Amino acid sequence: MMLPMPFRTIIEPFRIHSVEPLRMTTQVERERAVRAAGYNLFGLRSEDVLIDLLTDSGTGAMSRDQWAAIQHGDESYAGSPSWFRFLDSVQELFPFKHIIPTHQGRAAEKILFTAVAGPGKAVPNNTHFDTTRANVEFTGAEAVDLVVAGGDDLSASHSFGGNMDIERLDAFLRAHPGSVPVVFVTVTNNSHGGQPVSLANLRDVREVCDRHGVPLFLDACRFAENAWFIHEREPGQQSREVRDIVREMASLADGMTMSAKKDGLANIGGWLAMNDDEIATQCRNLLILTEGFPTYGGLAGRDLEAIAQGLHEVVEHDYLQYRIRSTGYLGDALVRLGVPIVQPTGGHAVYIDARRLLPHISPLEYPGQALAIALYETGGIRSCELGTVMFGRHPDGSEQPADMDLVRLAIPRRTYTQSHMDYVVEVCGEVATQAADLPGYRIVEEPPMLRHFTARFEPISSAEEGPPITPT
Ligand code: F0G
Repeated sequence: MMLPMPFRTIIEPFRIHSVEPLRMTTQVERERAVRAAGYNLFGLRSEDVLIDLLTDSGTGAMSRDQWAAIQHGDESYAGSPSWFRFLDSVQELFPFKHIIPTHQGRAAEKILFTAVAGPGKAVPNNTHFDTTRANVEFTGAEAVDLVVAGGDDLSASHSFGGNMDIERLDAFLRAHPGSVPVVFVTVTNNSHGGQPVSLANLRDVREVCDRHGVPLFLDACRFAENAWFIHEREPGQQSREVRDIVREMASLADGMTMSAKKDGLANIGGWLAMNDDEIATQCRNLLILTEGFPTYGGLAGRDLEAIAQGLHEVVEHDYLQYRIRSTGYLGDALVRLGVPIVQPTGGHAVYIDARRLLPHISPLEYPGQALAIALYETGGIRSCELGTVMFGRHPDGSEQPADMDLVRLAIPRRTYTQSHMDYVVEVCGEVATQAADLPGYRIVEEPPMLRHFTARFEPISSAEEGPPITPT
């Protein structure tokens, strides 16, 4: 149990044990680098980035005990002790019957949807993450987002803005009998401001799924952060241990997909879990085809060890309090500067509302992309657009504005300090003062799916003469 702190300052509950250098660059160097990358921040060399907030996935710092656990990695092809340590750790929190290790979350999605989805099927989710949506659609099924109303209102302070809309879910299942193989709930709701889902909502989803005879799966990447929000915000949950809340979340579901690159506190890994024997057999067969033998999936024994230890650390209250408060620290500072963000601040990231900050750029000229590029050029901060670039292209080839144009500042776990965040705040403030001068963008090259990773862009205002370069 955590003792109340007598002081207001929330400190990192760790000391730094080994350090990595950051490379300083000039604005001119960054303008050249991003231009060469086709104005796509995924195309940069990470050495040209000062503060990398592209993702919180696989970018965290491991603990001393995780590095020590790696030394115990046993690389036997089958039945390694590292596998059994991983299995015990996973089942301690998520007591599903079948645990199927994968190299990361999307591999679990690919295997599950290959087994259960397909043409004519539909998968509802509070909000699909991009790879989840793509893996559903790749099978020919439809991916449907049913996030709670009010969760769309960025100015509303909603305690559980990630919740599923129960009435719409019920109506959807009634209208599509026999064509929904699984209902998904993503905790926390990454594509919807990183907002949490309440236990009450999960219980209601469970009840609706039971009524329609449809299984419920969690996309549980950020399960510990979600459970911390439940512990802090949901009536009656304050005296509970996070690990117990996690077990209750698991008990409401029939299975899960997981990326251990988030709340596994590891740099790689994931799993698929379920109770259903028949589907598990199909999934294991697919696993062997594409990932590996069922006692390692796509992972080395040492990776299984790092995850097993990470799962013990991620549910510690001191860690979670620091984690959620430090994300909130960045969010609060941006609010004080008048930068519009999704509120309340989510668990792993702060989401800037680029459509509101850059009202002169229409959604099809990608205000999120414009803001992300300005943050990089101005201060070397790499962020990620979650908006019309990521979600605007539909399987039928049409393009429409996404619901929101957000720029995500995702905070890697245990990696940056408060002074790094103070620097980020200063850069965001500077970019906000130049907002009216930022250009929109057009796409000049894009792949047929998941275009945000590899598309190339050019700024609209100066496409003919080439983009402006700041004079030295
Ligand atoms: N589901 C959610 C909610 C995610 O956020 C992610 C990854 C995945 C599934 C896929 O997991 O990367 O291990 O294959 N999100 C990262 C991000 C990439 O930046 O938000 P993965």
